[in-house]
Amino acid sequence: MKIIRARDYRDMSRKAANIISAQVILRPNCVLGLCSGETPIGTYQQLVEWYDKDDIDFSAVKVVCLDEYVGVPAGDPHTFRYFLGSCLFDCVNLPSGNIFYPDGMAQDLQAECDRYDHIIEDLGGIDLQLLGLGYNGHIGFNEPGSAFEKTTHCVRLAEGTRRANARYFDSMHDVPTQALTLGIKSIMQAKKILLIVSGEDKSYVLEQALFGPVTPRVPASILQLHPDVTVVEHDALRL
Ligand code: F6R
Repeated sequence: MKIIRARDYRDMSRKAANIISAQVILRPNCVLGLCSGETPIGTYQQLVEWYDKDDIDFSAVKVVCLDEYVGVPAGDPHTFRYFLGSCLFDCVNLPSGNIFYPDGMAQDLQAECDRYDHIIEDLGGIDLQLLGLGYNGHIGFNEPGSAFEKTTHCVRLAEGTRRANARYFDSMHDVPTQALTLGIKSIMQAKKILLIVSGEDKSYVLEQALFGPVTPRVPASILQLHPDVTVVEHDALRL
């Protein structure tokens, strides 16, 4: 595991964007796994800036979205698909047919999870998976539990996760209670993983994830077992 300590949020975002950009240059038709949330916004902004300068080409890239709320209709600004669209997809030359995401409005959620796992398999797996870290140690929406859930599945969101995401909704009542998320197996099968973490309020959980025991109670701790993880953090490691 490589740990890169950035000076500030902007530096973290540039470093993460550099790693993603290098992946796209080395393999223009690569499969990127992308997360939503506040942490990657600067990374996506940096990628868009480089795209505008003609420094990065997304025309052959494929993107697999990490997770999606259940029960929020397509096109709703609260969906992660919308979020990633406005931060990145709609701002670069990524063909819409190259974007894959789990449908949180599917009638049969289990069938939808199976469909998504097959898509990832058919794409040949993920070359680079970008991850943020939840305050409770979640990656994707793999919430703390008694076992690592392997494949794409429907989760009941932890109350802490709902509270953390309530800032995007009018009220706590509107925050979805369920989400579809890539499972730990699909994340761990990515050839490279890039974890970005920002801010001292994530210190405790980041240290648990990187240096504590590997346990489903801290889902991100499984990353210790992956052969190619890069962590880019700022202000989140006290050591
Ligand atoms: C989002 C996701 C989550 C977030 C995590 C951190 O697609 O899967 O695991 O990465 O909750 O969120 P922020 O960056 O908002 O602190």
